[in-house]
Amino acid sequence: MFKRVPGTKDILPGEVLAWQKLEEKAKQIFSLYNYKEIRPPLIEEASLFNRSLGESAEIVQKQMFLISNKDDLYCLRPEATASVVRAYIENNLHKQTGFVKFYYKGAMFRLERPQKGRLRQFHHLGCEAIGSGDPHLDTEVISLADNLLKAFGLKDYRIKINSLGCLKDKKELSIKLKNSLEAKLEKLCADCKIRFRNNPLRILDCKIESCQEIVRGLQIHDDYLCPECKAHFSKVRAGLEALNINYEISPLLVRGLDYYTRTVFEIAHKDLGAQDALGAGGRYDNLVKELGGPDLGAIGFALGVERVLLVAKSVGEEVLQNRLVYIITLGEPAKSQGLKLLDKLRRAGITSDTDYENKSLKSALRLANDSGAPLVLIVGENELNKDVVTLKDMRLKEQKEVRYDDLLAQIELRLRE
Ligand code: HAM
Repeated sequence: MFKRVPGTKDILPGEVLAWQKLEEKAKQIFSLYNYKEIRPPLIEEASLFNRSLGESAEIVQKQMFLISNKDDLYCLRPEATASVVRAYIENNLHKQTGFVKFYYKGAMFRLERPQKGRLRQFHHLGCEAIGSGDPHLDTEVISLADNLLKAFGLKDYRIKINSLGCLKDKKELSIKLKNSLEAKLEKLCADCKIRFRNNPLRILDCKIESCQEIVRGLQIHDDYLCPECKAHFSKVRAGLEALNINYEISPLLVRGLDYYTRTVFEIAHKDLGAQDALGAGGRYDNLVKELGGPDLGAIGFALGVERVLLVAKSVGEEVLQNRLVYIITLGEPAKSQGLKLLDKLRRAGITSDTDYENKSLKSALRLANDSGAPLVLIVGENELNKDVVTLKDMRLKEQKEVRYDDLLAQIELRLRE
């Protein structure tokens, strides 16, 4: 028997309702902020991510699903920011509109060790605003993430923010970190010893307790930020305060991807356990240029849908009102009449179905009951002879014969009750 690939999930019909509701709500909220949907492909050239996320990023080092095809090396996208920026440049959107706001939903792939909240195929709901360095945009984007989570019925999440500064400031922070960690190098974990050489910033968000203890003792301040980056960050914070958005400054938040500059943020939820990030994002003011486009600022974020659904227990709980009309036909002549009836109801916008298993009346009624349909139509020999249909109201447990010309009106009336 075949099994699904570890770290992937079948989203079965029973769960799909919650996904659809989440996606619908997201669409509404993104539209409120004037974001337009974009759908980039699921495969890209692998080097797009090497260049965007950085050679030393964990995703690039260990987690890419690579596909080699003759001379080309493709990969299943591990994230969508790089794809969206690639699409923006390749389609010359900067020449048409300049500033754009995109949102996306879809599967991402990372070759990780699967555990609760950590999958190999997972889904992002994300957005990217490209073409502006305005700090008020940072505020808007964080407020958008906050409003999405509120719309999903989530509470008790924490928005952590930090500023990495511009490229120069990031370099300065790296040097400062290296200087203060040099004497403690032997106590760092094996991965952090490599990070010390390649990307010391990543040591700040190492999950190993002994490294975290060393990092806590470092007393990191924002003195690596240049005056412009400091001013940018205080405008973002003032904006969040003006909008009454609760946030915490988290000097250790650095994010694992190279493209980030200035504002970065992460949203954590205590019920998630070890993988506590519901979503994350930040500015990437150099990426558009780095990938061959103009020198434009940009910012975005992505929420992990599976993690949101793990904590958003209420999404999908209000059961959709079942408006199914179930048709039971008895005997061959009734069957073709039933097909015509199904067609008539569907044309009138009424969800309807039948059993196709040629059951007895008793078994078919049991199926209808299991389906949750409030109304059942029965067509047998008796009904065919009288040119009527028996309409059974499953909630009121009553039935009556109805003429064809009155049938739609009767159904609509009862479905409204
Ligand atoms: P990221 O932090 O790598 O950021 O992913 C965003 C969110 O995706 C995480 O906070 C988490 O909820 C979810 N996630 C990540 N990996 C997994 C996994 N293996 N299984 C389940 N959920 C996962 C980005 O990808 C950036 N592109 C976000 C961004 C957009 N920054 C700017 N614009």
